[in-house]
Amino acid sequence: MVQRVDLIIRNGTVFDGTGAPRFAADIGIVGDRIAAVGDLGATTADREIMADGLAVAPGFIDAHTHDDRAVLCGPECMMCKMSQGVTTVVVGNCGISLSPVRMRSRPVPPLDLLGDESWWTFGSFAEYAERLSRDPPPINVCALIGHMSLRIEAMNGDTQRAATDREAAHMARRLSEALAQGASGFSTGLYYPPNMMAPTDEVIAVAEALRRAGGLYVTHMRNEAHDVVTAIEETLQIGRSVNVPVVISHHKCTMPENFGRSAETLSVIEAAAATQRVDFDVYPYVAGSTVLIPDRLRDDVPVRVTWSVAHPEMAGRMLDDVSRAWSTTKREAAERLLPAGAIMFQMHETDVRRIMSHKLAMIGSDGLPHDTFPHPRLWGTFPRVIGHYARDLGLFSMEDAVHKMTGHTADVFGLHDRGVIRAGAYADMVLFDPATVRDAATFDDPTRPADGIVETWVNGRTSFVRGGGAADPHAGRLVSRQAAGVA
Ligand code: ZN
Ligand code: CU
Repeated sequence: MVQRVDLIIRNGTVFDGTGAPRFAADIGIVGDRIAAVGDLGATTADREIMADGLAVAPGFIDAHTHDDRAVLCGPECMMCKMSQGVTTVVVGNCGISLSPVRMRSRPVPPLDLLGDESWWTFGSFAEYAERLSRDPPPINVCALIGHMSLRIEAMNGDTQRAATDREAAHMARRLSEALAQGASGFSTGLYYPPNMMAPTDEVIAVAEALRRAGGLYVTHMRNEAHDVVTAIEETLQIGRSVNVPVVISHHKCTMPENFGRSAETLSVIEAAAATQRVDFDVYPYVAGSTVLIPDRLRDDVPVRVTWSVAHPEMAGRMLDDVSRAWSTTKREAAERLLPAGAIMFQMHETDVRRIMSHKLAMIGSDGLPHDTFPHPRLWGTFPRVIGHYARDLGLFSMEDAVHKMTGHTADVFGLHDRGVIRAGAYADMVLFDPATVRDAATFDDPTRPADGIVETWVNGRTSFVRGGGAADPHAGRLVSRQAAGVA
């Protein structure tokens, strides 16, 4: 029995992250680890918290982010996530990673989601990792390497074609180096113009680097609309070709004519899961958000502007309003706003719920932290899943909701000893009020912090306190995938 610990959280309701039923217990922390879970009546601590009526869970892991730059800018930049109970973010999604490439001019969309050329200063993943260790982030960072970033470097910016064998081999080498330096996988964004020209064979040639290192293949697929099933099959084929687990990013069925097709996509994924490892992330909203692409506008998909370099004053306005104000077509208005970002109301609630409820689902916000008028998922995703979907609608249990944000995600990304509450695990934790936790951010008021999150700990150190109490701005670290079976 441990006699004295650094911190005890007494009599909280524990959601341990495995999906097991909640239970009442005390939790004792020593250094960066959980020392004991149970009745710690005989144990004393430097700090004791009475958590009667409150819930304790593993800190939420945001499976899908574009926080590559935000994690370098201090706690203010990460308040959007910390205020939701998030303690780890997966960066480098959708083919976009801040390393290993330097930019001399403004990067092409969607790479500019991370900022202009002044932010693209990491010529190797080692330099990015070194920055994280020299100036530790407020929360943990698990990093993927983006195909688009590799392509810009290997193809010298000339990306409107397939890579040559030599260029693909160069990308595979760069990916290998990054994996050896602590990156956890490879992401693609085959939907986006700078990547669309990459054939499946090119992706497989680069992904070969994962086979030896054991990293994950994570993808914003080529298509999430009419050809979504073909895109899933391509994804599964890439995973099988190099024998690595795959993650389908922000799974959805977009455009009205595809509403309801998640029944079909989930059955394809589930059938594949019998013979290969496949999981997906999802965010709890019927709208997506990315850069504004005028070619892809449709009359039946309302669009809201999230930022615009040419017309910053239009951030937050509906594209319809902008085009009326300018007496132009929507297409012309969009062209004038570029470079710009957008929210597209292009999914159906039935699909969102069915996908989120599936046992392979992890929660990922896909929040865009540098947008002027962001999608509310940036500030609301995790409390929305627990409060709105689990508690209020009863779509699944709160235990399942927590599992989709913690234990399941840690398992998929190979983050050993995280995403669970048990003796020996890292003390990444969130204390919240299960009766009041809820998202407050909306499409009209997108940066309102969530309600009900009381405090979070990252590696045993307080990283967020409701009301702005003292927190450690450097509690996080780079965390890396460990292959299954490695202690
Ligand atoms: Zn994406
Ligand atoms: Cu994304």
